Amino acid sequence: LKQLEESRSLTNNGVLVQQLEEELSAFLNVKYVSVVANGTLALMLALKTLDLEVDSNILTTPFSFIATTSSILWTNLAAKYIDLPKNNFNLDPCQVKNYIQKNPSVKAVVPVHCYGYACDVEGYQEITEDLGIPILYDAAHAFGADCHCGKLFQYGYASVLSFHATKVFHTLEGGAVVSSSSQVKKRVDLMRNFGFEDEVTISSLGVNAKMSELHAAVGLINLGKFKEQNQRRKLISEVYRLRLSNLKELDIPVPSHNSEFNYSYFPIFVPGETAKGIRKRDKLYSHLKSKGILTRRYFYPSIPNFDLFSGVEIKSGLINAANIAGQVLCLPIHADMTASDAEYIARHIVNFFVAP
Ligand SMILES: Cc1ncc(COP(=O)(O)O)c(C=O)c1O
Repeated sequence: LKQLEESRSLTNNGVLVQQLEEELSAFLNVKYVSVVANGTLALMLALKTLDLEVDSNILTTPFSFIATTSSILWTNLAAKYIDLPKNNFNLDPCQVKNYIQKNPSVKAVVPVHCYGYACDVEGYQEITEDLGIPILYDAAHAFGADCHCGKLFQYGYASVLSFHATKVFHTLEGGAVVSSSSQVKKRVDLMRNFGFEDEVTISSLGVNAKMSELHAAVGLINLGKFKEQNQRRKLISEVYRLRLSNLKELDIPVPSHNSEFNYSYFPIFVPGETAKGIRKRDKLYSHLKSKGILTRRYFYPSIPNFDLFSGVEIKSGLINAANIAGQVLCLPIHADMTASDAEYIARHIVNFFVAP
């Protein structure tokens, strides 16, 4: 903040934005980073760099935060969905490939590394190699997550991160497009600043998606804390796992042993309904709320089930996504929680099932 005051530069690609981009590039092990005002704009700008015709079909997941789909629609592209596999909240690239082979109008795929669990990036790479289709990862949850020895962000056409205040690394509001392509970096950098090439030349239609120096300063401070905070979230996650994994009423996903994990979310899945036809997940949600514990039904409903899409044919055939959305509950997890906070929450969950 002192540096910010001394530089007297508040925004417009200032020194702190540049420093943050350099540090993120090293931290994420990716060549090019363009920081922007938020993750949604990052998705929109990355989609724009694909130069697709209006209404081109983009295949994406029905199970994500609304921004994954709204950024596709907002850039005048058409969102198409396939269902999740049973028991996974990330799309299966084999099913994606089959769909594209039957529907060659698909021009790009936007998968999500949901909850920080990396997609099968090698499966997606095959799609690009065999069918020439670019993969743009929505990596909003994946900061600090990894696979394949630190190379997660080297896969695909580009990846998009969110640095919203709720994320494991944040700049209050913010986001980034990261890739191995100088061309993508150049295009995003231009478009985030109205398309100005120089003072009198606008080389492409742009928008104001710049990150301010204040936001970048917050990012630089938070980047230094990430590893230590990740250890604290890991501890919370271990307490939950220890206390809850024996409950047969719950399904709890397990991160892969051979990849780094960011402990950004702790999703549990509560299948089934009560005799009165109420989702058990919703009963647990209300029970915990009555004890002052705020969990999130994240993501619920699945995207095609939002009223916004009523009347559109996409609802049918997305049963697994709708089921998962009806079962998921994300438990509180953040670096300021203590192990005894997690014990308290786990105890109320156990009590709910012992004496519902
Ligand atoms: C999967 C996913 N994509 C995109 C976004 C949008 O990011 P932002 O809130 O920074 O615009 C979010 C935000 O939570 C998200 O969870």
